[in-house]
Amino acid sequence: MDREASMTDKNHFFLRDPWRYDPQSKAPVRKDSSAGFETRSLHAGFHPLDGTGPFRSFVPPLVQSVTYPYTDFDQIPNPVYGRTRTPTNTILEERLASLEGGQSCITAASGCQALFNLIFTIARPGDNVVTSLNIFGEGYKQATDIFPHRCGVTFRFVDDPADAGSWDRQIDERTKLVWIETPSNPCLFITDIRGVTDVAHARGVPVMVDNTTATAALQRPMDLGVDIVLLSISKFLSGNATVLGGAIIGPEALVEDIRWNTTEFIGAILSPMAGWMTLQYLETLSMRMDRHSANAAAVAVFLDQHPAVTMVNYSGLVSHPQHDLACRQMKAHGGLLSFVVKNGQAGAATLINALRTVVHAVTFGTSRTICMHPPTITHEHLTVEERQSIGIDDGLVRLSVGLETPGDIIADLDQALAGLAP
Ligand SMILES: Cc1ncc(COP(=O)(O)O)c(C=O)c1O
Repeated sequence: MDREASMTDKNHFFLRDPWRYDPQSKAPVRKDSSAGFETRSLHAGFHPLDGTGPFRSFVPPLVQSVTYPYTDFDQIPNPVYGRTRTPTNTILEERLASLEGGQSCITAASGCQALFNLIFTIARPGDNVVTSLNIFGEGYKQATDIFPHRCGVTFRFVDDPADAGSWDRQIDERTKLVWIETPSNPCLFITDIRGVTDVAHARGVPVMVDNTTATAALQRPMDLGVDIVLLSISKFLSGNATVLGGAIIGPEALVEDIRWNTTEFIGAILSPMAGWMTLQYLETLSMRMDRHSANAAAVAVFLDQHPAVTMVNYSGLVSHPQHDLACRQMKAHGGLLSFVVKNGQAGAATLINALRTVVHAVTFGTSRTICMHPPTITHEHLTVEERQSIGIDDGLVRLSVGLETPGDIIADLDQALAGLAP
């Protein structure tokens, strides 16, 4: 029997050719895109009257079932099994797609997993991906080690990420994707989304933006022509380090290719519980991002004037080299910043050990202010030259500014920086 012909679910794709970017195709405008961002954060994907009988509920239901019964021998139910689609995660996928303005979404067990699933689905041995060194540390490891050595997919790093021509020069006929992270972790480099997208599209290559640090509350890459958005749910989207998750938003054909040709066989899905928690947290995303941004702006101004701080990376500062670009493509500058202290790694250690309210731990986007030392933790795999080329100084400290009273964050930094004063 022709297995594909027996499928009743239109979304079944069975190891056909990978998704290909079609420069002529335009993603249809979403039905719900006229509602405001905050309204969609609360309503997209679920209406309290959607359920029936005892399953009618005000809050989106948490469905933990791994499997879903057949009602007829030949009719594959939808959902069918927890590795491809589950009801609670379908609500979340619908909501994230709505917030980003994309056609479809598939969640994953983490942001790293979402990146892996995307590249693993669209690239074959001999293909390449064009990106810059302004990417998160585990993404760099996938790009320089895991994909090249285990899958034969190479990554090309542009020389000057601020120059669209530099991106253009790395693209060739085997380029399957251009990958931009902006603002970048940890140096908050701002890439010109529209400029790079125009260059890539002229060469027939799709563009993915990692929108983890800004979130759709502050930046909408798809409004600037981007095809695919990558998200770590673990950061600002969930907002308190209680969820590990990721997502890809993009054209339905790509998303279903990932779902049926990678996720179904690799697994590593977002658990329904994590999806359900994320739905609750998304309800306050817009408000939280506004407050994170306001608090980070106050902290950045304080750090910028401190004698023990030699550099502050925050696009909200007028002195930031890409301040104007950031103002054009972002609604506000977000809660993440980084700064360089005097005395290199020893200076960073002195500062971090003296902090009381600010916690030293790996992650960002949390309601509580959190800091970390990228050169020895997340970006240790880069060569010294690579780190220097993007501003990862030995004294660099990443600070994710939380929702505390801003004066208290500043007071803690002030007392800790006192240990570095001349
Ligand atoms: C910009 C960015 N994207 C993606 C990820 C991966 O997210 P996760 O920790 O959920 O795997 C990270 C992690 O630090 C990140 O900083």
